[in-house]
Amino acid sequence: MTRLFEDSEIPLAPGAVVLREFASGEELLPLIEAIAVAAPFRHLVTPGGHTMSVAMTNCGRLGWTSDRKGYRYSPLDPETGLAWPAMPEAFTRLAREAAERAGFPGFAPEACLINRYAIGAKLTLHQDRDENNYDHPIVSVSLGVPAVFQFGGTKRTDPLKRVTLYHGDVVVWGGEARLAYHGIQPLKEATHPLTGACRLNLTFRKAG
Ligand code: SIN
Ligand code: FE2
Repeated sequence: MTRLFEDSEIPLAPGAVVLREFASGEELLPLIEAIAVAAPFRHLVTPGGHTMSVAMTNCGRLGWTSDRKGYRYSPLDPETGLAWPAMPEAFTRLAREAAERAGFPGFAPEACLINRYAIGAKLTLHQDRDENNYDHPIVSVSLGVPAVFQFGGTKRTDPLKRVTLYHGDVVVWGGEARLAYHGIQPLKEATHPLTGACRLNLTFRKAG
């Protein structure tokens, strides 16, 4: 995959920006592996009874989870009954620095959802609205195989922008973009030297 020229910051909308190659995968990937030993990736079931194609786990004081009863943040991993693994300092720092670069200083997330996409996995268009308030941005880190990110407005029918997210890219959306619809198109066949045929995503939120 070649990119002919590089813009280090790509605006998506007022309050939303892609920061190209902002994160170091080499630093983050071993931390993700250690988290997944304690809190294994799993395919959650939605309230509608659909098993998600993306496998998920969490670190931090709160973790996002779903079952037939609904979506929620929980301090315990329902799979193990234990607290989620602690959020590594490198994660907290990265999230704070990315948010600050995007114009949201002082971001202190206590929830980090870790998404793992195999080839073909997707995340349909949705809003992040399970948090207690929307004053804080979302910081989303892409690692491994590239994926097409869709980003729209606050109505599902608003026009979508599409941008390919590469290893190390970070997207931040907050302020008037906080409730923008977004999603990931089915992951196209590819491999990345550090992750193989897989994409990982870290999504940082202030949830409680
Ligand atoms: C999300 O919408 O929570 C994750 C998006 C992504 O995987 O980039
Ligand atoms: Fe989301």
